[in-house]
Amino acid sequence: MAIQVAVANHKGGCGKTTIASHLLWWAAAQKIRSHGIAVDPQGNLIQRVLDDPRLQREKVYRASEWLDLTYSPNAMPAMVPPADLVVLDFPPGFDICSIARPHLWLVPIDGREAIDGLMTAIRTMQVGPGGLGIYAVLNMLDGAGRVPVSAARDALGMMPKLKMWPDPIPDTAVIQRSAEYRRPTWLIPNGKNTAGDTAMRKFCAGVLSLVGLGSKGR
Ligand SMILES: Nc1ncnc2c1ncn2[C@@H]1O[C@H](COP(=O)(O)OP(=O)(O)O)[C@@H](O)[C@H]1O
Ligand SMILES: [Mg+2]
Repeated sequence: MAIQVAVANHKGGCGKTTIASHLLWWAAAQKIRSHGIAVDPQGNLIQRVLDDPRLQREKVYRASEWLDLTYSPNAMPAMVPPADLVVLDFPPGFDICSIARPHLWLVPIDGREAIDGLMTAIRTMQVGPGGLGIYAVLNMLDGAGRVPVSAARDALGMMPKLKMWPDPIPDTAVIQRSAEYRRPTWLIPNGKNTAGDTAMRKFCAGVLSLVGLGSKGR
């Protein structure tokens, strides 16, 4: 059975598609059979990986030998081709989260924003059998004027059920540009081994390791 990882938050622009696409790119690079599901009706996950396809409900798009994508707006697709890892890219909002019971929820928190509404959010999330829980991932964190990491940690630590991903993902131009290039940070010009790339690869490897797919896992 595939390991399911879902990426969700009530807010747009906090890095859901960035995180979902990088997990898929990373897993595919490790030759883990991977499948991305664009539950967000905007289909950003598909556009982030492929060059401007026409969005067609339940269509399976082949991105590479190891990576397929399905456009399945606001629903779970009836059929997912065999895969070891399935990553769901949710639209903003939490009502929709009840359609899935993944092994792991990732909730990117925009480090530049206050953390409101999140409690309600987390309450609605159900972890599937044998699941690993719900992790908040601090994204786009940098220095002055932003929520300090320790304050964010304290606030998030008060939420039952929610764990904190140990390392924040920094706000970097390389991660930003990866969206325009439709490539992971390690494949864009001058991207590899920059701070953003190193953080992103460490994050992806950490998630795969947590779900039991680390160092190919099999
Ligand atoms: N860590 C980061 N550093 C810099 N830019 C980022 C980072 N994470 C996301 N972004 C950028 O922020 C924008 C929104 O990210 P996206 O993943 O599309 O958010 P969502 O899917 O939650 O709406 C994109 O342009 C993306 O490239
Ligand atoms: Mg998105």
